[in-house]
Amino acid sequence: LILTQDELKKIAAYKAVDFVESGMVLGLGTGSTATFAVDRIGELLKQGKLKNIIGIPTSKKTQQQALSLGIPLSDLDSHPVLDLAIDGADEVDGSLNLVKGRGGSLLREKMVESVCKQFVVIVDESKIVHHLGSTGASIPIEVIPFCWKFTEMRLQNLFKDLGCVAKLRTIGEGQNEKPFVTDNANYIVNLYFKGDIGDLNVASDAILRLPGVVEHGMFLNMATTVIVAGELGVTGDGP
Ligand code: A5P
Repeated sequence: LILTQDELKKIAAYKAVDFVESGMVLGLGTGSTATFAVDRIGELLKQGKLKNIIGIPTSKKTQQQALSLGIPLSDLDSHPVLDLAIDGADEVDGSLNLVKGRGGSLLREKMVESVCKQFVVIVDESKIVHHLGSTGASIPIEVIPFCWKFTEMRLQNLFKDLGCVAKLRTIGEGQNEKPFVTDNANYIVNLYFKGDIGDLNVASDAILRLPGVVEHGMFLNMATTVIVAGELGVTGDGP
């Protein structure tokens, strides 16, 4: 039995939706895995198996998806505490620290997921790593467009001893290449590390101290449960 990556994502997403109860205020994640969870929540609402859910979307894209499914929505101003959030991740380490934001939605995700009583992360087994950033893939940083090159240089300099390379995220090719713009009208600088980032909290503090940085994609000490779907089954505590 060989399952596709999409099938694994769906299995993890459905398992996470088992945590959802009627009456909850729910953080709705962003990305190809979270989208299965949002679909499932919409379906259970339609079937009347869930009632009185209020969704707080973590991106414009998820907002559109939830609206199309008829999921009632609100925001953090009206609901500053959430019962539960369900979202994917790009990397998960053994302490449930995450890298997120390779889809570009890290700021709203972090704002929402930092005020959830439960934060359930859904991944297929390809996302599991020993150390965040050690696979050579990016740690995304949301930055203010003003003098982004200056901020990019300062970010790279912060970690120059680790051989870190900072690069603006772009879309398009050649003459059509332009900066990727987030839902908050900011840019993303990707940090590429050659190996270990070192102490994650030290790295986090250093990044956040730089003027021009809005937020970074390391979600430290936030996830309460990680559901991992793999060929051999699903791990992660049930509700
Ligand atoms: C969006 O910005 C991200 O944080 C996503 O949650 C993350 O990239 C995981 O996405 P996939 O489920 O598509 O891998």
